[in-house]
Amino acid sequence: MKEVAAFVLFLALLVLVSDAKVTKPNTGNFLRCLSNGTGPVHPITDVLLTPANSTFVSSYVSYTKNKRLSNPKDTNLIAIIAAKHGSHVQATVVCAKFDGIQIRIRSGGHDYEGLSYISSVPFVILDMHNLRSIVVDVSSKTAWVEAELPWEKICFGRFVAVAVPAFGVILSWKINLVEVPKTLTVFKVNKTLEQGATDVLYKWQLVASKLPKELFLRAMPQITKGAKSGEKTLRLSSTLSS
Ligand SMILES: *[C@@H]1O[C@H](CO)[C@@H](O)[C@H](O)[C@H]1NC(C)=O
Ligand SMILES: *[C@@H]1O[C@H](CO)[C@@H](O)[C@H](O)[C@H]1NC(C)=O
Ligand SMILES: *[C@@H]1O[C@H](CO)[C@@H](O)[C@H](O)[C@H]1NC(C)=O
Repeated sequence: MKEVAAFVLFLALLVLVSDAKVTKPNTGNFLRCLSNGTGPVHPITDVLLTPANSTFVSSYVSYTKNKRLSNPKDTNLIAIIAAKHGSHVQATVVCAKFDGIQIRIRSGGHDYEGLSYISSVPFVILDMHNLRSIVVDVSSKTAWVEAELPWEKICFGRFVAVAVPAFGVILSWKINLVEVPKTLTVFKVNKTLEQGATDVLYKWQLVASKLPKELFLRAMPQITKGAKSGEKTLRLSSTLSS
């Protein structure tokens, strides 16, 4: 019985200790560490927003795409770092790890669950939207693309394999460029469930992977308004390009 009581006490203490760690990160230390870890050439103050900055909330809200999940009053959010240089990313990662603060990375990709802007523990947002340069080398048919460049702007490309050990933030990719043929044919067909979208999707699964490499056939399901008001259906948008 004594052991059980001791164990319960130990558990309770553990919870208290981990709670204390979660609710009280040393924000001051973190901010000092950030300044210390970045040089005067690319000062972090230019890209750092804390609740003391008037644009803090508007910057947060402008990127929270799923409003059901965004919480501008969330006191867990300590700072937003809109990195413009590799050293900003490096300092954020190192300092957050040192002070036990979670990092959420927001960039241009899809994030339906709000994982890049909400957290149940104190966190900082590492915003990658400033990192969007592209350097094209036509002679070697390659390009260096910074992490945030939207996929549509890259047009046709192919990723080289990138191995990411443990935690890392990808700053840029090297991609191989492929030539776009002189004539490019594209067509798009929409089908709702009522119009047989299920059959089309089934056929797509069977043929898409067997088509020649030059043909690109994509199927994208989306929720859309149904024929009757208030009703919803699924629209399958199929795109073929060659
Ligand atoms: C500042 O950085 C140096 C190393 O670059 C380190 O030795 C020092 O402890 C840091 N100071 C603070 C307050 O983080
Ligand atoms: C945020 O506020 C600090 C302190 O007033 C200031 O030095 C910094 O430049 C501000 N950051 C931005 C991005 O405006
Ligand atoms: C398919 O649906 C989308 C969204 O409503 C619409 O923008 C597009 O024009 C439609 N395409 C065709 C070929 O009907």
